[in-house]
Amino acid sequence: MLKLAVLISGNGSNLQALIDAIAAKQLDANIHTVISDNPDAFGLQRAQEANIPAIHISPTDKKTFETALLTTLQKYSPDLIVLAGFMRILSVKIIQTYPNKIINIHPSLLPKYPGLNTYERVLAAGDLVHGTTVHFVTEQVDQGKIIAQQSVPILLNESVTTLKQKIQAIEHRLYPKVIQSIAKKHLQLSEN
Ligand code: GRF
Repeated sequence: MLKLAVLISGNGSNLQALIDAIAAKQLDANIHTVISDNPDAFGLQRAQEANIPAIHISPTDKKTFETALLTTLQKYSPDLIVLAGFMRILSVKIIQTYPNKIINIHPSLLPKYPGLNTYERVLAAGDLVHGTTVHFVTEQVDQGKIIAQQSVPILLNESVTTLKQKIQAIEHRLYPKVIQSIAKKHLQLSEN
C-alpha cells in the first residue's frame, strides 16, 4: 500500500476524491496524514471524518513552518506527498528530502498559465480549451515533469465558476488514477 501525505490549504475536494477512491478500492493507497497551513481549511474536517490524522501547521514564519512541516512528514514517512490545493511553495530542503516523490495538480494545461488565477487568465486570453495537469514538484514552481493532462472545451459565455466546476470534475477522476499508476509502479520518475 502506497503511504500518502496530502497537503491542503482549503476546500479539499481533491482530497475527498482520494478518500472516496480508496474507500471504493480504486486506489491502493492509505492517507497517513493530511496537513494544512490554514486552520479553517474544510479539508481538515474531511480528513477527520475519514479518521485520518488532520494536522494544522501555523505559518508563523517561513523557517519555523518548513521545519515543522518536515518533522511532521518524517513522522509519517510517506511514499508520496500529494499537493492538493496547497497554496505555499515548498522549500528546497523538503523537495530534496523527497526527490521525485512530490506531485501537484494544477488547474491549467502547463506550461500554459503557471501560478495563480488560471481561470481568469485563460478566459481573458480567449482560449478555446483549458485543462488540468498533474506534475512532479521541483524547485521551479509548476515546472516539474508533466505526468498527465486532461482538457475541457471553453464554451461561449463560460464563466470562472462554470469553468472551475468542469476542471474540478476532471481533476477528481484524474488525480486518483495517476496515484494508482504510481501505487502499481506503472509510473515512476528516476533521475530526470
Ligand atoms: C484544485 O483545483 C487544484 O487544481 C488547485 O487547487 C484546487 C484545490 O481545490 N491546485 P480543492 O481544495 O481540492 O477543492
